[in-house]
Amino acid sequence: MMNESSISKIQDSALAEISKTNNTAELENLRVVYLGKKGSFTALMKELGSLDADQKKIFGAKINIVKEKIIDAFEKRLIILKTQESEKRYASEKIDISLPVRSYITPAENGSPHPITATSKELEKIFSSMGFTIADGPEVETDYYDFQALNMPLTHPARDMQDTLYTNSGNVMRTQTSAVQARFLEKMKPPFRIVCAGRCFRCERIDAFHSHTFYQMEGMLVDKNVTVGHLLYFMKTLLKEIYGTEQKIRLRPGFFPFVEPGFELDIWYSDRWVELLPCGLVHPELFNCAGLNPNEWQGFAFGLGLSRLAMTRYQVPLLRYLDDSDLRFIKQFPRTLPK
Ligand code: DAH
Repeated sequence: MMNESSISKIQDSALAEISKTNNTAELENLRVVYLGKKGSFTALMKELGSLDADQKKIFGAKINIVKEKIIDAFEKRLIILKTQESEKRYASEKIDISLPVRSYITPAENGSPHPITATSKELEKIFSSMGFTIADGPEVETDYYDFQALNMPLTHPARDMQDTLYTNSGNVMRTQTSAVQARFLEKMKPPFRIVCAGRCFRCERIDAFHSHTFYQMEGMLVDKNVTVGHLLYFMKTLLKEIYGTEQKIRLRPGFFPFVEPGFELDIWYSDRWVELLPCGLVHPELFNCAGLNPNEWQGFAFGLGLSRLAMTRYQVPLLRYLDDSDLRFIKQFPRTLPK
């Protein structure tokens, strides 16, 4: 005899069984049991036919609500099972294209990023967030981009400040990433912002802070009405991001032929001033050289000592450790790149 509780029982057992199905085939069988032509609901509807009008109304409505709940439960379960089945299939069809580890490398040995790589990736991320494009340039550079286009003609005495390594063909091992400034001034349409991390070379006497090979990060912003205020804002933001807290800085006049005015920006580190960020406003002559009007465009530039920054961040006592490729040194650093 049909009553409230017999309909509720069908609902309870259907929902319980649906949730226990393990695959789409099982679910389909169950659907036939409840909703098929010979299923529970067809039987209920037949029984309903024999009731009087009042009861038909009451039980008919109840049956419809329960039926909809069950159809809904079937649909939801079907989605879950289908997803599980496709995931299983994808996993079984996945082709492993990796090569087995070669026997001369210990299997569990993963590399760690070099402090210079970690630092420059972090800086690139900071500058990208401030709208800078990541630029690149060659390590074997022409005299033109390394010096002449930076306001250092062939006989300019400022060249003596950089003890240069020349190649036999008359090119130079890039003495400064500033060469990239000259290249981009020539090829980009202002306004633009670039940073470029890279290796530089000088015929240096080696001491704790100097080496024939070192890394810099060059930055340049070209726009209209650029002032020293903008330069300072960007430099302070950069230092705060990289060290995590605001840094005590000082600005001294500095001479670089490609900026006017030029500065040495020092940070207070370990109870002393460390020279870290030479910078300035792009010299009008560079705009002339690149065919741009210096009355229309201005800019600032900086050349961050990347090796020196890595030394202060990772407490590396000698610059040359950064270039020695000694695994005992590299292995001390975190295995992952900073996020
Ligand atoms: N290239 C300079 C050097 O190696 C550093 C430098 C100074 C870069 C001032 C700049 C700058 O971009 O504006 O000594």
